[in-house]
Amino acid sequence: MPDTPAEVAASFPPPAGFAEQANASAELYEQAERDRLAFWAEQARRLHWATPFTEVLDWSDAPVAKWFVGGRLNVAYNCVDRHVEAGHGDRVAIHWVGEPVDDERTITYAQLQDEVSRAANALTELGLVAGDRVAIYLPMIPEAIVAMLACARLGAMHSVVFAGFSASALTARIQDAQAKLVITADGQYRRGKAASLKAAVDEAVAASDSVEHVLVVRRTGIDVDWTDGRDLWWHDVVNDASPQHDPEAFDSEHPLFLLYTSGTTGKPKGIVHTTGGYLTQSSYTHVNVFDVKPERDVFWCTADIGWVTGHTYIVYGPLSNGVTQVVYEGTPTSPDEHRHFQIIEKYGVTIYYTAPTLIRTFMKLGRQIPAEHDLSSLRLLGSVGEPINPEAWRWYRTVFGADRTPIVDTWWQTETGSIMISPLPGVTSTKPGSAMTPLPGISAMIVDDEGNQLQPGTGHGEQVSGYLVLDKPWPSMLRGIWGDPERFTETYWSRFAERGWYFAGDGARYGSDGEIWVLGRIDDVMNVSGHRISTAEVESALVGHSGVAEAAVVGATDEQTGQAICAFVILKARAANEDRDQMVDELRKQVATEISPIARPREIHVVPELPKTRSGKIMRRLLRDVAEGRELGDTSTLVDPSVFEAIRASK
Ligand code: WT7
Repeated sequence: MPDTPAEVAASFPPPAGFAEQANASAELYEQAERDRLAFWAEQARRLHWATPFTEVLDWSDAPVAKWFVGGRLNVAYNCVDRHVEAGHGDRVAIHWVGEPVDDERTITYAQLQDEVSRAANALTELGLVAGDRVAIYLPMIPEAIVAMLACARLGAMHSVVFAGFSASALTARIQDAQAKLVITADGQYRRGKAASLKAAVDEAVAASDSVEHVLVVRRTGIDVDWTDGRDLWWHDVVNDASPQHDPEAFDSEHPLFLLYTSGTTGKPKGIVHTTGGYLTQSSYTHVNVFDVKPERDVFWCTADIGWVTGHTYIVYGPLSNGVTQVVYEGTPTSPDEHRHFQIIEKYGVTIYYTAPTLIRTFMKLGRQIPAEHDLSSLRLLGSVGEPINPEAWRWYRTVFGADRTPIVDTWWQTETGSIMISPLPGVTSTKPGSAMTPLPGISAMIVDDEGNQLQPGTGHGEQVSGYLVLDKPWPSMLRGIWGDPERFTETYWSRFAERGWYFAGDGARYGSDGEIWVLGRIDDVMNVSGHRISTAEVESALVGHSGVAEAAVVGATDEQTGQAICAFVILKARAANEDRDQMVDELRKQVATEISPIARPREIHVVPELPKTRSGKIMRRLLRDVAEGRELGDTSTLVDPSVFEAIRASK
């Protein structure tokens, strides 16, 4: 959204009271500017190192970075044990709120240490060693966090798969990572109903050759099929294990986790993160962007641990800082639309971090719902996942923040590991809709095709946008794509190869004060409610249906979800006579089962032809015009410009 002069005037300086007590002051930018590597070394020293590092950054093997070379540390020790040793064992780590009303658990740091140690011992019993991969397919229950930390404690990589993903998506991820263990639950609560999870795991494990055991948390009590010898109950093996476990220190570059995300092809990429750099930047951003005070704040990040936001700002960021947080299992509207507000009120949430799509949902429901609750504990609000439209930003600040709380709009990606571009809440004057500037220690630029930096302020009048690039390595950067070094280089480092820049896949432009306005993906990746889905993934699910000959998918602007999935399909001759509505229904279902209900297209159009160039490339730009109901752009490169009459007729 462009910043008109009126919007510039309406920028929001940090309230004086906030600035005075803020963890981060403007000094931080100066420090980082003076000596970037010394700055990061200082941030890294906020953690406990069993062996100190001897070099901050080794970039000689670019684009694979080594941060904090020679250092050794244990991530779980840093997130749990050291707080207990510092005398904070009685501090609440997690106020867990289940979806069923009154299903709640409070877990202190001492209890978390006990649980994580038991789980680590249990996993060791099952034969897990450092370097092994563990797939975690769990709802938002405390065991999910315990399982992740137990893996980290042992140096085993977790690969968390969002519990809303289908059995086939799970299979692909288990296979690619060659996971030895799957941790799941019998079922999960979704909008008040218990749904099976274990069944999807059974299907996935049957189709894979690496899994030795399935560890099952009893969550809903629903019936499950059982494979003796392979399947084990969490409460049997973890509860019986010893609560004493000595954490081993691992190399700073030891792999910590794998997380799959969508790219421009149908095959999800396993993003690899490592230990020291990831934890350093996660901890640093959490303390400075969210201004947390461990003694009194109650932090709440509403993401699911199936996404990177949950990894970094539910597990590693907050816990490394010894903070108290709320973890909520369910959907925001269960049992009704008051749920989030009730939770804020009940637990006195002070910092709330959510996605624009949810803010827009609340906006649509109206102010009377939040007005019924005391939200005065809130002192800072955050946004992530997609550009936040200025209207939603203002509404968020007024209705959640009583016109007094700062908002941090945080830009980052699965690949960046933690926040990269964001205001500092006690320093930055924010403009609604802009993520503002790179954090201290981070370097980003907006450049044109040739790599020339755009001029700040060109956002006025003529809207000049360019590519968002990260021109210097950062501690929590991805270290690769699992098993595919070529794809790693090709995807992120080839666009500006000669300069050695990372291309994020986003378009952006500068505003009048040099601040960054992220415009969204410019590749074939869609952003639906903050979830990344590739057009190729959905297309491949569609052509997987026996009646479909060809499919093209585009993301069209959607008021609610940011983008919505619009598909155009050509049917095979023998399917062409079948009932259209039924066919479309079947196809939508097909995508939901192949990928996830999140990927279910909003609309599917059965068309006689797709618009192609002479070289056979589908012109998505034009399909997007159709999906968004616009005048068609330039059609001169089409083989047959008349295809649009037929497409329009079939809409
Ligand atoms: C893509 C990354 C980062 C955790 C959630 C998504 C978009 C993310 C913002 C923001 C504008 C944003 C970008 C980015 N995005 N945050 N504050 N403003 N766009 O992680 O699934 O890896 O998606 O989300 O397009 O590339 P992800």
